[in-house]
Amino acid sequence: MRDPVPQVTYLKDYAPPAFLITSVDLDVDIEDEFTRVRATLALQRNPRSADSAAPLVLNADELELEAIALNGAPLPASAYAVEANRLTISSVPAQFALTTVCKIYPKQNTKLMGLYASKDGYFTQCEAEGFRRITYFIDRPDVMARYSVTIHADQATYPVLLSNGNLVASGDASHQEGKTPARHWARWEDPFPKPSYLFAMVAAKLDKLEDSFVTRSGRNVGLQIYVEPGKLDQCGFAMQALKKAMRWDEEVFGLELDLDQYMIVAVGDFNMGAMENKGLNIFNTKYVLARPDIATDGDFMHIDRVVGHEYFHNWTGNRVTCRDWFQLSLTEGLTVFRDQEFGADLYSRPVARIQEVRGLRAAQFPEDAGPMAHPVRPQSYMEISNFYTATVYEKGAEVVRMIHTLIGRENFRKGMDLYFRRFDGQAVTMDDFVQAMQDASGTDLAQFRRWYDQAGTPVLEVSSAYDAPSQRLTLTVKQSCPPTPGQPDKLPLHIPFAVGLVGGDGDDIALQLEGEGRPGGATRVLSLKSSEEHFVFVSVGQKPVPSLLRSFSAPVILKYPYTSEELTHLLARDADAFNRWEAGQRLALDILLRAISTLQAGTEPVFRESFVAAVARVLADGPTDPAFAAEALSLPSEVYLAEQMKMVNPDAIHAARVRLRRHLAHSLRAEFAAMYVRQRVAGPYSPDADPAARRSLRNLCLGYLMELDDPEVRALCMEQFDRADNMTDAMAALAALANCDCPERAQALDRFYAKWRGEPLVVDKWLGVQATSRLPGTLTQVIRLLSHEAFNMRNPNKVYALIGGLRSNQVRFHAADGAGYHFLADQVIALDALNPTVAARMARGFDRWRKFDAVRQSHSRSALERIRDTRGLSKDTFEVVSRALA
Ligand code: PHE
Ligand code: ZN
Repeated sequence: MRDPVPQVTYLKDYAPPAFLITSVDLDVDIEDEFTRVRATLALQRNPRSADSAAPLVLNADELELEAIALNGAPLPASAYAVEANRLTISSVPAQFALTTVCKIYPKQNTKLMGLYASKDGYFTQCEAEGFRRITYFIDRPDVMARYSVTIHADQATYPVLLSNGNLVASGDASHQEGKTPARHWARWEDPFPKPSYLFAMVAAKLDKLEDSFVTRSGRNVGLQIYVEPGKLDQCGFAMQALKKAMRWDEEVFGLELDLDQYMIVAVGDFNMGAMENKGLNIFNTKYVLARPDIATDGDFMHIDRVVGHEYFHNWTGNRVTCRDWFQLSLTEGLTVFRDQEFGADLYSRPVARIQEVRGLRAAQFPEDAGPMAHPVRPQSYMEISNFYTATVYEKGAEVVRMIHTLIGRENFRKGMDLYFRRFDGQAVTMDDFVQAMQDASGTDLAQFRRWYDQAGTPVLEVSSAYDAPSQRLTLTVKQSCPPTPGQPDKLPLHIPFAVGLVGGDGDDIALQLEGEGRPGGATRVLSLKSSEEHFVFVSVGQKPVPSLLRSFSAPVILKYPYTSEELTHLLARDADAFNRWEAGQRLALDILLRAISTLQAGTEPVFRESFVAAVARVLADGPTDPAFAAEALSLPSEVYLAEQMKMVNPDAIHAARVRLRRHLAHSLRAEFAAMYVRQRVAGPYSPDADPAARRSLRNLCLGYLMELDDPEVRALCMEQFDRADNMTDAMAALAALANCDCPERAQALDRFYAKWRGEPLVVDKWLGVQATSRLPGTLTQVIRLLSHEAFNMRNPNKVYALIGGLRSNQVRFHAADGAGYHFLADQVIALDALNPTVAARMARGFDRWRKFDAVRQSHSRSALERIRDTRGLSKDTFEVVSRALA
């Protein structure tokens, strides 16, 4: 017997809530085996609701009702109905107080949604629909209320009691009757009305790092970071990140913190990266804890970005929030854009852009081409947790960036100011945001809005014609967008298309469009609006190489018939750093695709010498911008290569990429070795951009040298591993060794584990590096690690490292015998019973199954069907697998 198919929620069905909640008084009593929650809600009918006689319906999830009273009088059983996921009271006055008392079981809460127990105490996660797992509520973002919260718990075990806002009272109840050992309580009040998804509370044993910040209007704000006891030496960087973010938001957006106190709490069990609860952010430890010996340069950078991200949400998310979950990208896309800009200002702007685009191509483009494709504003969902996606976040940020590009920085700032003036304290839509941008800039964004509703990655096909006698260059641009589930036909989008023309000397040619009196600028943002457009540049004295889509001005696939000479020229000379990188990627892509088909035909590929020469030049230039060089010298990923193929051959892709890396290593051994020496960073470790950039280039060189399979290089690698005073260098060496079938491999892995088994975040790295190893035995090793003491299915970070690592290891996951698929299905089924959010995220590993050959398809189909037919499957996982099978 099949479980009933879960209900679908549609954007078109949105209606304002029938009731509003003005205030919430929560009393949370944490006992050993359960927690009792007493909630008093001040309710009133919503004048904006069309249904003035609607019953009161409160959401609920795994709550045990103990008592219910209306205006203080207990309700008779006939007055209300309790169902699995709701509580209905059919007849209520226009305004009233409702009190409910319920029991919940945080220690059994493996979903990590609502109130749950972790190693050091109790934590909450309420976005998107977790608050209903704490108490009966109208759990939707357009219901905003003022909260006061009293928490009671055992004093010795849970000395820290926190909630949003300000601490207004606390005390102890040591000798309360019948309660041993001693208990205490704390009462918090949040002055800002907020949606329930921003509620948070903590009762735990934690250490606290304190600091303060003076805002530009002169207010002194107390800052606290709470972490597991003994880890205070790992939170200094996060504190600095917070202060940098606070200053940056004042300087760039004129936005100041509105609170007297700002708290961050780190917890090891967390489904996502972090959560922007008002005044009380809860973070995955991964984005708080760092010390040079346990965190890599990448980890430090991510901490800056995530701390910034959650802080920026205080305005873009909390002060102005979403009307409904279809508008999620209103807050997420905008906040990712803000954290990207913050990162670009802290580190290298072009390199940040390159990394964003790599990420987009690795995750969002495949998503947009697969069964889970959805617009930035989805039109329906079964489970909203499935829509915290690369599309909502990263493509959403690209859409904001395109507005920025189209209207310019100053107008964008004006638009932000107007947005806050209009909507502060409200729950609004993406249309409201775009309208503010349109009104502030005077730019018509009507057609632009299609970006929010159309899924799929648009394709730009560009061609050029140069006419020497008339000195005219004509660019022809055709746009199209492939069909996606539920959207067979697409309309043309408004696309900002940044172009430059690079002359033979490498300099930009001043751009003058036909009809313009004089040339202006070296980069022009063309506004594409129809399916085919022509742009004529005049006074172009020589045949240039077009530099198209500079800085990746739109999230599209660009096709242009570049010759390898043109790409080599752009790689060496384009003024746009992003396009220099892009030219290198295109050259490599071209060579790799050719090598793949050669290998598929059963012959060995031969690589062009001109490519090696181009690589050598980039490497030689490395010292001028090592971070850029490291990016430029990294070949396109296997996943990206797969996306370029009609039918994916993961073995040929892997083999071609390894062959090319080996070829480069053999041809440029001396150069890599010299650069490895030259980029050594002297002095004590610092995660700053400059030394981090040198390490990235140096470790890239080490990676290539390790392709030589030479005992001398392995000794060098082992030496780096043993001597490193920082995790960046240790991990780079370990990752290289993990890919190598050599005796040093096991030694390094064993030593690493012995040294770090007490640091969970480092153990995650150890699991991850084994799961992403290219060696053929990887799946077997991953299966073994499932029962290692280091692994724990209940901890999302462990799952992401080990199971997620294997899932992203294209050549091993897509093994022809289907073992990878079988493995993932087993894990998804096991996880689903514990944590559906995480299970569904893992199940996304099947997204691209239809791009593989018939044998692989039959294996993945049976794996997917096996998951789908599991009894009691969550709607999270059901949605993912049923869409994959559709
Ligand atoms: N809102 C969080 C963010 O900053 C993400 C999140 C979503 C965290 C759902 C937990 C649960 O992006
Ligand atoms: Zn966010």
